[in-house]
Order: sequence, then structure tokens, then C-alpha cells
Amino acid sequence: MKPIDALKEFRLGACYYPEHWQESLWEDDFRRMRELNFSIIRVAEFAWSIFEPQEGVFSFDLFDRALDLAHKHGLTVIIGTPTATPPAWLTHKYPEVLNVSHDGVTLHHGLRRHYNYSSTKYRELSAIITRKMAEHYKDHPAVIGWQLDNEFNCEINEFYAPADHDAFRAWLQEKYGTLDKLNEAWGTVFWSQTYSAWEQVFLPRPTPGQRQPNPHQALDEKRFISDNTISYAKVQSDILREVAPNHWVTTNGLFGHLDSHRMNDELLDFFSYDSYPQFSALADNQNEENPLADRAWSQKLSSVRSISPNFVIMEQQSGPGGWVNRMNMASPKPGQMRLWTYQSIAHGANMVLYFRWRTATVGNEIYWHGINDYHNRPNRRVREAGQIGSELALAGNRITTAAEFKADIALVRDYDNEWDGEYDIWHGPFSWQSGTSWFKVLNRRHIPSDTLYIRSHTTIEDLKRYKVLIYPHAAIMRDETAAMLEQYTREGGIIIFGCRTGYKNEHGHTYMRPFPGAAAGLCGISVEEFTMINGMRKATTMKWNGGDEALTAADSFNEVLYVEDDSVEVVATYASDFYAGKPAVTKNAFGEGQAWYFGAVFNDEAAEQIIDRLGLAAPTASWLSLPPDVELAIREGEDGPLYFLLNFSEQPAAITLKESKTDVLTGNTLNGSVSLEGFGVVVLS
Ligand code: GAL
Repeated sequence: MKPIDALKEFRLGACYYPEHWQESLWEDDFRRMRELNFSIIRVAEFAWSIFEPQEGVFSFDLFDRALDLAHKHGLTVIIGTPTATPPAWLTHKYPEVLNVSHDGVTLHHGLRRHYNYSSTKYRELSAIITRKMAEHYKDHPAVIGWQLDNEFNCEINEFYAPADHDAFRAWLQEKYGTLDKLNEAWGTVFWSQTYSAWEQVFLPRPTPGQRQPNPHQALDEKRFISDNTISYAKVQSDILREVAPNHWVTTNGLFGHLDSHRMNDELLDFFSYDSYPQFSALADNQNEENPLADRAWSQKLSSVRSISPNFVIMEQQSGPGGWVNRMNMASPKPGQMRLWTYQSIAHGANMVLYFRWRTATVGNEIYWHGINDYHNRPNRRVREAGQIGSELALAGNRITTAAEFKADIALVRDYDNEWDGEYDIWHGPFSWQSGTSWFKVLNRRHIPSDTLYIRSHTTIEDLKRYKVLIYPHAAIMRDETAAMLEQYTREGGIIIFGCRTGYKNEHGHTYMRPFPGAAAGLCGISVEEFTMINGMRKATTMKWNGGDEALTAADSFNEVLYVEDDSVEVVATYASDFYAGKPAVTKNAFGEGQAWYFGAVFNDEAAEQIIDRLGLAAPTASWLSLPPDVELAIREGEDGPLYFLLNFSEQPAAITLKESKTDVLTGNTLNGSVSLEGFGVVVLS
């Protein structure tokens, strides 16, 4: 894999808001940043009202002074276009730019991201401010790149302003050409929903019931939002490419209803992400036993890596997070900020900026803590940042040469199923449990995994990078996708499907063919019948063949499988209920490979069974033994592999090395029995 040029040099830094502070603080801030070995800041992404205090009146003085001073201190700068926060004059004068909720309530000035992507006026004003800023800073010696907007589709990812309905209609006309085709795609024959003129077509609007739009329309809505977001972002990226061709362009965040892969491919030099691992700990309310907590964030980072193999962490959590009335995180313990920084780097980050240099003293984020406290005296987090800064001054550029994350297994996802599954409770919620279980079990066994998004651009070569693909609940399965998965398996790959595979077409209609639809030939089975498992139906178990006849829970949905081909082996059967003894898990020998079908939603124990049967093991098994609390990640490049060992436990971890290795962060040699401190990290070469 070719390293991304702009990311060859490792950089550490912070998000900085000169407009929030007295100017007398700036110089001291920049000087202290350099002392911590920081070399980059991000500025300006919310500062529209400073750059354009009145329509058509531009002022760059404040940021000119800040950037000149940053440059004087040897800092480089990323500028954010400020369009996430339209000024009050703008929304007051042009209320059509505001977003509107599904219920028809206009979302006004006072927070951020209150605009819609469809308003021609907003696009025009966004283009003007972007061009003015680009022209002004294109030759500034400190500036090296741009962030578009801030976190597209954060805060809200649905849009119902009049301009959005119009844009949706135009998008549908382009996509379907005729109303007949639209009616067919949306199945409007059902409940007399047939449209006879385009003026009758809207985004989903309030209906009787609780937000129950036509499901095929709801799927197209998400596709539209994604396209519309990208087309809005393109207005800005086109201008930046034209005016500031020597700067790179990125954007930050991974949010709903947005094909970030396509946005990255079409508009960006690389992707950026905002890493707040404590959100994973907050989310552990889903009755998950034995959750990964902050370590679960590694799975999100694997999704980021699927967009952009190396990336920037534009905002790295550096303190407890909290808004005034929501989110109230615990303070990271000593070592956790360092652990999370290396978690990002282990998964592919080549630049990390902390959010933020100093906690804000005004606004909704007075509890979203930065490195420095309000009092601005040296504190524990500043000291920890200093340690990280010195380590990366030594090791950063060795790490960036190891551009490629090594994984033989990928968890497969796709946007169609994610967007359809947001509404459809007959498959959507299953993906979260299955994906989490697989990731957790692999991660605790030190088997690194990637995320692979199947898209229209995906090729057989993309799939063949992996020995095993796990594609848990691909309800929507196109014939082309199934054909590619067949080729992958025929040529030696192992594919693992879960229940609900292949029963819907690209519009979300159910096929009139035996399940798993397009994947049936590959799996050599059909689904005889199926049932939801919920409060009305007690879960059964699966009995696995082989030595101990282990029992694992058959969660959430059961498909009773029927073996169609001789090449199929039944690996587990249902243990009780009226389908006791019938196949629950099958394995089909297909060409050189295997296609597994698992008739329920995966859980940790079932994933363990499959991993054991496939004989999967840590790639370092021959020389390294690690306890489950330590995550292993491997980055590889011309200078050989780097092994990141991340101890997510507060307790020391006992590890054993049969080979002598060097920790590139300290230069220390490690061999034999080693104790890795609580929250400790080593990077072995
Ligand atoms: C991010 C956002 C930042 C800040 C941070 C903490 O989502 O980009 O501007 O709001 O979260 O809430």
C-alpha cells in the first residue's frame, strides 16, 4: 500500500480557538505547545461571524495575527471552513437556509448545524466565505490544509426544509426518470400510494402512526441525504482545489446518512476522524455482558481505516467530556489519554490533534475538557501530553512508514443495509449485536480485524486481501454482490453469513425466492422457516457437533435451515422447540473455500465456536503471549512490522516474549516476562 504523501510526517497538535481567548494568552499557548512537541493546530471551523461580521464585509485581522504568531513559533495550521455555524445575520436575513425537523419545526440559531444542504442561498454564501478564506490564506506559510465544515451530519442527519423536498424530488427524477419507475421502486400499489404527478412526491412527512413512512421511500431518503451532503461538500472542495491547490483537503467525523467512502474518494486527500473513546463506555448500557468499553472504539477506528487507510485524528479526547445538559463523562485516569492516543495511531492515524488546548469558559462545552484547565496552570493532562509528545518526536516517523494495518479477517458492512436497517427492526438491530460480538471476541484473542464496506466499487481483489469475511445480516443482497462473494469463496476464501441474509432487493422489497436469496447457491441451503425470538418466544440453544456438544444461545431470530447440497456439513442443530434437531449452522465446501451460514444473531460464545473450528489464532502466537485485556494491533511497512500492545486494564498485564523486541517509544529492549503497566502501551519492532 502506498503511504499518503501528506501523512508521511507524524504530527501532534491541538484544536485551538484564538477567538475564545484574550490575545495576550496566544504567545504563551503557542510556546507551550512547542514545548510539548506539538507542531500543528486546527483553527476557525466555527468562526464565520468573525470572518464575515456582516454580509459581504470580511475581516481577517484576528486570524491573521493568530496565524502569524503560530508560524513564528513553528506551528503549522489546518483551517476549517466555518459553515457549521452560520451567523445570526445570515439565518435572520435568509431563513430558508435553516433546517426543519420532521414535524415541521424550524431549527433556529443558537446551537450549530442548523442549516440545510439544499438551499441555493446557503450554498452561495458558503461558496463566498470559502473562496474568501482560501484566497486570503492560500499563501500563508503556516497553513498546510483545510477541513471542510465540521462533522457533516453530526447533531442532526435529516432535513425537511422546503428546499430539501424540492431537491429530493429532483434527485428522484434523475434516478428514476419516470413516475412509473418510482411507483414500482416504492411499491406504491400498496395502500393506494401511487403518485400521478411529481408535485405529489415529498420526503417522508408526518403520517398517522409514529414515523412510519413507506419503507422504500425511507431507504431512498437516506441515499438522497448522502448524495446531497456530498454535493454540498463539493461546493467547498472545488473552490479549495482551485484557489489553494497546494493545500490538502479533508473533513472530520463519521456520521449517519453519509457514504463517507464516496465523499473521501471524490473530494478529499484523506479522511479525518474525531476520537472520543469514552462514548463507547457510555454506550455500554445495551445489556452487553463483559463489554469492551473504551476499547470498543477500536472498531470505529477500523471503519475509519476502511475509508482512508491512514487518517488524521482531528479531535482526540483529552479530558472528560460533557455538555451543559448532556454527556457527563468521568475524568480519564492517568495514562488513559496516552492509551487512547496510541489506540488511534495503532489503527492508522498519522496525525493526532487533541480536543482541545484549553477548556472553554463559555458556551455549551464548558464541561468538555481540554488539555489545559480553565486556570491554565500545568496539570496532569498537560504532563501526559508532554510525555506523548516526546515519545512521538522519537518514534512518530518510524510509525508512519508502517502504513498498512495487518488483518486477515474483515467484518463486512454496507450502506444499503445500514440505512434500510435503521427503519426495519426485522434485521437492522441484529447487526449491532453480531458486529460487536465478533469484534470483541477476535480482539480479546488478539486476532486483528478490519472493516470492509461492500460498495459498487468493491472488487474481488479487495475481498481477497482477507482469509475470512464475516457478513452478519446482509438482508439486501444484490445478485452482483453474491456473484463476487461466490468467486471469493471459490478461490479459497471463507465467508460467514448470519440470519436474514439475502431476502431483500436493492429497493428493500422481499424477493419471491427461497432465502437466503442470491446467497443460497453459495451456502447450499435454504431457510425452511423462521421466527423472531423476543418476549413472546423463549430463546432456544444450538448444539454444536464435535467433542463437547457445546450449547450456545440462539439469539433474537431463528432460521431453520434446510440442506440443499451434498457439500454441506451441519455444524450445529437447534436443541429444543419444535425445530429441535434441525440445522442451525451449516458449512458448505464451495470451490477451494467455505461458506458458513449461521441461522441466528451471533453472540460471543457462537463466535468463539466458529473461531475454534476455523483454527484462527493471533498472528504473533509463536512468540508473544498476551492476556485478553491487552489489544494487539499491527502496522507494517518497508521497515518491517510494528506491534502495538495496548493495555486497556488499570491493572498491570503480564506478557511474555520469546523473541527480543525494541519498544520504539522508549528504545527499551523487551524479552521474556514483562509487566505492562495499567493503561500502558508499548510499540514493538
Ligand atoms: C465534536 C465536535 C467538536 C466538539 C466535540 C465535543 O463532535 O467536532 O466541535 O463539539 O465534539 O463535544
